[in-house]
Amino acid sequence: MGKRVGIIGVGYVGLVTGTCLAEVGHEVYGIDSNTAKIDMLRRGQVPIYEPGLAELIAKNMAEGRLAFGTETDECVRRSDIIFICVNTPPKPNGQADLRYVDLAARNVAQAMGGYRILVDKSTVPVHTGEKVRETVKRHNKKNLEFDIVSNPEFLREGSAVADAMHPDRIVVGVTSERAATAMRELYEPFGAPIIVTDIESAEIIKHACNSFLAMKISFINSIAAICEAAGAKIDEVVEGMSLDKRIGREFLHAGIGYGGSCFPKDVSAFIHIAEDFGYDFTILKAVQAVNAHQRTRFVKKIEQTLWVVGDKTIGVLGLAFKPNTDDMRNAPSIDIIQALVHDGAKVRAYDPVAVPNAQKILDEGVTFCKDPYEAAHGADALVIVTEWDEFRELDLERVRELLAQPIIIDGRNIFDPAQMKALGFVYESIGR
Ligand code: UDX
Ligand code: UDX
Repeated sequence: MGKRVGIIGVGYVGLVTGTCLAEVGHEVYGIDSNTAKIDMLRRGQVPIYEPGLAELIAKNMAEGRLAFGTETDECVRRSDIIFICVNTPPKPNGQADLRYVDLAARNVAQAMGGYRILVDKSTVPVHTGEKVRETVKRHNKKNLEFDIVSNPEFLREGSAVADAMHPDRIVVGVTSERAATAMRELYEPFGAPIIVTDIESAEIIKHACNSFLAMKISFINSIAAICEAAGAKIDEVVEGMSLDKRIGREFLHAGIGYGGSCFPKDVSAFIHIAEDFGYDFTILKAVQAVNAHQRTRFVKKIEQTLWVVGDKTIGVLGLAFKPNTDDMRNAPSIDIIQALVHDGAKVRAYDPVAVPNAQKILDEGVTFCKDPYEAAHGADALVIVTEWDEFRELDLERVRELLAQPIIIDGRNIFDPAQMKALGFVYESIGR
């Protein structure tokens, strides 16, 4: 039996979450304070690039299970379970900014006409659930019954629809059996294991997962740096490590390090949460430091290969923080390109989908190209920053002819060193 679901904040997470809940039969009504976003969705356009999402939105809107608006009252009237999916950006001091969560909780409390379940989907510091409960209590004039639930998301951008439709597990933090039953019924159609726990544990699970994944990345990037110094090969080392089932192969790809809207924010927030509890999260501070340094190391690698960067033309392939997304939030390409431009280089950049977002951030010293060959044309070096599959298929002979110098510096290890040498390139990569 389809439940009535409200989504507050139809961004990367809210839009995917709501659409997939509609896909499995629930009735979903999504709102957003950004009315332009709602207008686009109502016109059948999708504000974000996420493989498979546009089709799913169109299908569920046509079948009458998915609709969009801008008013909280309307959203609360039409829902029994309301998801808060507003963004929780880092404050200058690195702590999570929860003002939009607080606003959503207040608005729902004032609009409630009966029992509601308020679900926090946004990534928040532990004890936020408690704060949301206090806020709802304070603004719930009719003293109506309600429940608060923590239901963190584990969506990876670029595969968010697949991750939402086939989750490894659903995590639900509750304080009442009534809420537990409702959430089990809501998620039952996905056929995934559902972990029902307390709110604090659910909130910690999210931060612990993201921090652990970020730690794997910083760890393998450190191993790659040691491989470079020792003349070892990171691909061989990862092969040897990953066959140990306790280690596995996932998230051991050495490269320029992590970006995006989650890892940087969540690692920083978790360090602050731990400090609030009097624990010095030294291992996570090291994860953060290694990741920041990875970008600097990569710029140094470019400088060492080119000797002089000033007045050189450098082609950059890939701008988004990872493939299959247009998201530029904390993308390594921003720091790398700004450092090269600062050193006097002229940059020719290309990305399959992220150029419109990149143009809002990068302007001075950067020419945006319409394809990877244009970015290579006349460049003194070609730099791979995001591992789009399109770049793995490049006609390398053509690239070599277009380059002023046959130099490729590969920040994501998408090419094979022996093959590149045979093709006559000066080829640098990470940990090899
Ligand atoms: C957000 C958080 O950043 C992330 O930590 C959490 O895991 C899930 O929610 P994301 O969906 O990527 O992730 O954020 P964003 O794409 O910025 O979407 C947030 C949406 O909320 C935006 O569309 C914004 O307009 C909307 N919003 C924000 C509201 O509708 N009301 C507000 O008061 C504030
Ligand atoms: C991440 C988590 O995977 C997801 O569970 C959570 O809900 C949100 O944050 P996302 O940031 O969208 O998802 O993408 P992800 O695929 O995890 O990549 C994060 C960053 O790590 C990217 O910058 C990527 O380039 C980098 N990365 C990932 C590596 O450098 N090496 C790897 O092996 C894997």
